[in-house]
This record gives sequence, C-alpha cells and structure tokens, in this order.
Amino acid sequence: MLDIYRIGDEILRTKCEKVTQFDHSLEILIDAMFDTLDEADGVGLAGPQVGVDKRLFIVSLNDGTRKAFVNPEIVETSVDTCPYEEGCLSIPGVYHNVIRPSKVKVFAQDEKGHAFTVDASGLLARVIQHENDHLDGKLFIDRLSEDERDKVLKLYSKRCGRKVGADRKSDKLSSKKRKG
Ligand code: NI
Repeated sequence: MLDIYRIGDEILRTKCEKVTQFDHSLEILIDAMFDTLDEADGVGLAGPQVGVDKRLFIVSLNDGTRKAFVNPEIVETSVDTCPYEEGCLSIPGVYHNVIRPSKVKVFAQDEKGHAFTVDASGLLARVIQHENDHLDGKLFIDRLSEDERDKVLKLYSKRCGRKVGADRKSDKLSSKKRKG
C-alpha cells in the first residue's frame, strides 16, 4: 500500500517527467498502485498521487478495464462535451460536475514499454482525462469556476479538517478569500 498525497502537497502541482526506464521497479510500482487503488475503491490513480513525479497512471473500472498508461498522450478530443460528477482520491469526500470532451484518443505505453492506442468514450474517457491532468499538476477543481472551486474546497476543509484555498499555484487561500 502506498500513501496517497492530498491537495496542498507540492507534488500534486508538479509537471511530471517521462518514464524512460521500463524495468522491474516500474512493474513493482504499478502493482503497488493497483493495490492502493483497489483498497481506496477508486477508478484511477496517477503517479504524483503516490509521490512519484513520472508520467504514468492506472485505470480500473467495474467493467473489467484494468490498464496502466505510461507516457500517455491525448492526441484527439471530441468536439462534443459532457458533464460528469468527478472526485479525486487526493481531495477525498468532495465531488463536482466537470465538463470535458466525451471521447478521446490516447497513445501510451504499457508497463513493458509496448505502445498502444485507445479510443475511449464514457467513463474511460473521463478517467483518462482526469488522470492525465494529474501528470501536468492539474486537479479537477482547476476546471471549475472560482466560486465552484471555493465551495468544493470549503466543503473539503470542513470534512477533512484541512485548510486549502482556491489559488491554483499554491493551494493557499486566494487573496479574495483572505479578505473575507
Ligand atoms: Ni484525481
């Protein structure tokens, strides 16, 4: 089991580096990430969420989809978009509708370095986009309006007893909020 880092930790705001070594330690990391995701009952988990600033994430859905995406690149997104209520293991206990493209095409490598392509729709497309954002230091709250973001973070602070704010760069309280 790996520790899941929470909002406020700098690693979640880091732009991750490409994976260059496809060795045994990468396979061990990915196995441990799947165990951690299963334990947390989540659908996706990205490297920085477990303290690893590398471009990789895993997906595990109820339909049996269970896949590691190493060095993923979203190469196409559909014009049509849809809302979906997202949550994040790094911001536990809060959820909000996020609008994103309904379909994506992604190039990636598996844990052995073999290249593959996925044309994703539905929940898979959603999870891929959410997890891919993590690799660029982005969280789903960054895709909300300022008011929505503040609401979500206030609720999170209340539930988790942690103070985080809405300023994307530092996750500190924004100046607007500091003034009240
Ligand atoms: Ni997340």
